[in-house]
Amino acid sequence: MHAAPYRNVAIEAARAGGEVLQQWSRRFTVKEKSPANLVTEADFASQETIVGIIRSRFPDHGFLGEEELDRDPVTEPFRWVIDPLDGTGNYVHGFPYFAVSIGLEYAGEMLVGVIFDPTRDEMFVATKRHGAWLNESPIRPSSVDALDKAFVVASLPSAIDASHPSVERMLRVLPRAQSVQRTGSAALNLAYVACGRIDAFWSTSLKPWDVAAGSLIVTEAGGALTTTGGAPFDAAVPDLLASNGSSIHDELIALLKSPIRS
Ligand code: IPD
Ligand code: CA
Ligand code: CA
Repeated sequence: MHAAPYRNVAIEAARAGGEVLQQWSRRFTVKEKSPANLVTEADFASQETIVGIIRSRFPDHGFLGEEELDRDPVTEPFRWVIDPLDGTGNYVHGFPYFAVSIGLEYAGEMLVGVIFDPTRDEMFVATKRHGAWLNESPIRPSSVDALDKAFVVASLPSAIDASHPSVERMLRVLPRAQSVQRTGSAALNLAYVACGRIDAFWSTSLKPWDVAAGSLIVTEAGGALTTTGGAPFDAAVPDLLASNGSSIHDELIALLKSPIRS
């Protein structure tokens, strides 16, 4: 199958979604979907623009979007998985680390993944078996191969107290990695693993739209993707560990998988 026409539409839609986010910047109102889980008009407006562009070219395709969108495909088994604004908390506070994420599945397998950062005008793109790119350049993960030299990112659920198991997991890694960050955009974290800016990223609270595009970008770039327990990655499972594929992957599994004390 030729993925290029789908990839080109995904890029066009991601760029248009990013423009909508820039237009809404600083004039949105903020609502809480649940404690500390924010949404704005910009999330909905970006999704509407993205879906409008894709649907005008592929009216029979299915959609899964974060903002109340779930439509089965009509004929062929194509489904677009969309996060119109990943990093809403960052966006709300003017912290420039957020992105549009668009993945296309064919019969349940990722075919195209696009993540667009409108602040830095960076377009991360992967198509199955054709590698991963940042703007016009092919990308590869880093070569860091020891956890004590690694720049690692964790994503914790939005509203947690200190006894939450993910806090203990992070505490285990803190003294072992060179740096442990929490950045607020899972999609960009995955794109950054793919291009070598982050050595590893884990989360146990992800949704399919957070990881659809990024999972393909990481694997096409040559990175590794499993659950934090080392099982095969599954976008329907909220648990993910992405890395540059070096021995730090197993070092992190050893730290993250052991039972959490109650
Ligand atoms: C969130 C971000 C965050 C992650 C949360 C996601 P949103 O997405 O990716 O990094 O920790 O689990 O829900 O709500 O900004 O689209
Ligand atoms: Ca998200
Ligand atoms: Ca979102």
